[in-house]
Amino acid sequence: MTPNDAPRPRITIPRVEIPSAARRQWREAIRERLQRDPGQREAWLALGSMERALGNLEAAAQAYAACGPDHPLAAYMHDLLVGAPRPESTLGSELRTPPFIYLEDFLSETTVAEIHSAFERQREAFHPHEVTSGGGVTGRLDDYRRSFGTRGDDETRELILTPVRAALAEQRIPERLGVSFDAGDIEIELSSHLDHGMFVPHRDAVPAVPTRRLTFVYYFHRLPKRYQGGDILFYDDHGPRQLWIRSCFTRLTPKHNSILFFPSDRVHEVTPVSCSSDDVFDGRTTIRGCFHDGWMSPAQPA
Ligand SMILES: [Fe+2]
Repeated sequence: MTPNDAPRPRITIPRVEIPSAARRQWREAIRERLQRDPGQREAWLALGSMERALGNLEAAAQAYAACGPDHPLAAYMHDLLVGAPRPESTLGSELRTPPFIYLEDFLSETTVAEIHSAFERQREAFHPHEVTSGGGVTGRLDDYRRSFGTRGDDETRELILTPVRAALAEQRIPERLGVSFDAGDIEIELSSHLDHGMFVPHRDAVPAVPTRRLTFVYYFHRLPKRYQGGDILFYDDHGPRQLWIRSCFTRLTPKHNSILFFPSDRVHEVTPVSCSSDDVFDGRTTIRGCFHDGWMSPAQPA
């Protein structure tokens, strides 16, 4: 089945969230309050939370910096948002915010062109994604995840893994994210989100595939960009059961030729995509990978 043939059932899971317009209104109210009294730390924290949910990471970092370096949560958030995540143990609370490392201009123009060729070469292999439930059942569930993908061939694996391995070592990415794993499987997948494409909040490390430790997603697209949406949201979580919080998240809008690294056990979401084309190369194209701690058993799905 090609993406053009794929049925598009109606999404039935309600998306309960605070509209961005409401967040912008609240942000203005907080700013007015801070103009009257800039010494209110809680207001700076609230402003930082609003800005990061809106995807304004630089403004969010400035708001957290205004709280001063002696506020554990503000200091953690500031360092995370400027690309220097510190251990979550420094947070000093049960609230946790997923760490990530985001790098722009990741590959040379030559390698980006080779990635495009790799996608073109594997065009016919793209198929609708399936998901694996916590109970280990694998199948297609279009109101949970709607995208297309295929495992990368050997050439694609090397194209992306060579620079990724170099970044892991040179920039100490696992250590900075608080992730450790022994040598093991590395999943590689080419994917595309077309119109209505999305992936609801989820963890990559699920009971059925417990060995996933570090996820990376390399983003690229045709120029000019031919889709809208497709942001990634990292949800805060809370308490020993790591319950995620719907209203508290960090939004990223990844740019062409950028890469994102994050721990596989943290809750994240791909927001809905709008795209007028049915060509997978016009959509939100990525190469996604997971480093495992050891080897998946033959019975485990990829
Ligand atoms: Fe994911």
